[in-house]
Amino acid sequence: MTPHIEASSGDYAETILLPGDPLRAKWIAETFLDDVKCVNRVRNCLGFTGSYKGVPISTQATGMGQPSTAIYVHELLNMFGAKTLVRVGTCGGLNTDVKLRDVIIAMTACTDSGMNRAHFAPFDFAPSADFGLVRKAVEIAEEKSIRHHVGPIFSSDVFYSPDGIATYQTLMDHGILGVEMETSTIFTLAARFGARALSICSMSDCIITETQISADERQQTLTQMIELALETVVADAS
Ligand code: HPA
Repeated sequence: MTPHIEASSGDYAETILLPGDPLRAKWIAETFLDDVKCVNRVRNCLGFTGSYKGVPISTQATGMGQPSTAIYVHELLNMFGAKTLVRVGTCGGLNTDVKLRDVIIAMTACTDSGMNRAHFAPFDFAPSADFGLVRKAVEIAEEKSIRHHVGPIFSSDVFYSPDGIATYQTLMDHGILGVEMETSTIFTLAARFGARALSICSMSDCIITETQISADERQQTLTQMIELALETVVADAS
């Protein structure tokens, strides 16, 4: 038990999928996992453990943004023995080659968050994904003909920026593919605890064209992305 997770030691699998939304954690568990047990209800930030194709897997919601995510991820790594973390979420597109519903497999995530700045000063840390997990995810995406891109993303602390797209111009000029709000801290904490992390985000809205996917498309895309994440960790475990 930790301040934010009521589970007992051993309740989580070593591999954990991390959606932001608690109901998405529930949906993933109910839709894809066998022998599911709810392991966390504190603050309704739901966590579940089950198995997929015989591999033990948990899914734990992180809430939105890096402070919330860091709390759950720290506790999972520090107290519950997490070894492989996979963020499954959505992102806003910052590159015209990335189309709505495409999947971005993040290699690295820059950030405007003060969390790393305070800790690493005077250096900048480069949070990065685990190469083996990235390679497996790319192989599975290719096998399943899922449109995907591999590259850098931006984990922002700000959803509603008063400066609109101008906020992202310098990042776009440096090849950043999309913006979300969680990956940078997941990669950083995985590094700190000697664990491995992957982040898979589907593009739900394009910041450049100001377009977004419908609720139906969101569901289909989500299904495809979760299958990609699960097949990746199963292939990784074998
Ligand atoms: N900004 C930040 N996070 C997001 C976005 C966005 O536009 N879309 C999906 N997650």
